[in-house]
Amino acid sequence: MEFEKVVRKRKSVRDFKSKTPSWKEVLYAIDLANQGSFAGNQNHLHYLIIEDTATIKAIAHLCEQTWISNTKLLIVVCSDDTYLENLYGERGRIYSRQQAGAAIHTLILALTNKGIDSCWVGSYSDELIREKLKIPQHIQIEAIIPIGFESGRTKKPAKKSLERCLSWELWTQNRRPSMFEERQEDYEPLQ
Ligand SMILES: Cc1cc2nc3c(=O)[nH]c(=O)nc-3n(C[C@H](O)[C@H](O)[C@H](O)COP(=O)(O)O)c2cc1C
Repeated sequence: MEFEKVVRKRKSVRDFKSKTPSWKEVLYAIDLANQGSFAGNQNHLHYLIIEDTATIKAIAHLCEQTWISNTKLLIVVCSDDTYLENLYGERGRIYSRQQAGAAIHTLILALTNKGIDSCWVGSYSDELIREKLKIPQHIQIEAIIPIGFESGRTKKPAKKSLERCLSWELWTQNRRPSMFEERQEDYEPLQ
């Protein structure tokens, strides 16, 4: 799929058909997520794939989001801050969150590219999920991604317009300063 089409097509889906997505497509998406930028090229991420129905139901319960129980496959994205913190101190923890978010988005876009829908889930008790999945104490749970094939017709919500998220040269300037001069240069005075 063309890149722009993939980005615009991605949306959070919470109602899935009973069809199970292929774990091979999941590996394809994780491999693409691993191609991103990582501080010091330290990929600190680990992906836990859950296909067991009982475990998925338990996770839905722990997240207090019942829709998750109808999913056939979940990806739990985890990270280990240790190396980045040793290398970059306090800043390392910030890098850790940033590169996890970037990788999660690549993962979701890669799934979209394969026609697989998903939703980024961030609301859960870390402790309860950690205990259920035997995730070590020093590992962060960055996100849970239920995936599948949309059964309904979820509408993608409107997104922020460009003009509402831009400044030029200074935080306080919302217009490109040179635009006026460029227009002047383009202007051909009457002879
Ligand atoms: C960090 C993060 C946490 C989120 N947590 C949840 C969640 O716990 N449950 C849920 O249903 N959606 C969750 N979402 C999805 C957002 O609700 C969704 O992205 C937003 O409504 C915009 O819709 P769209 O993804 O279709 O563009 C989360 C998204 C992000 C980025």
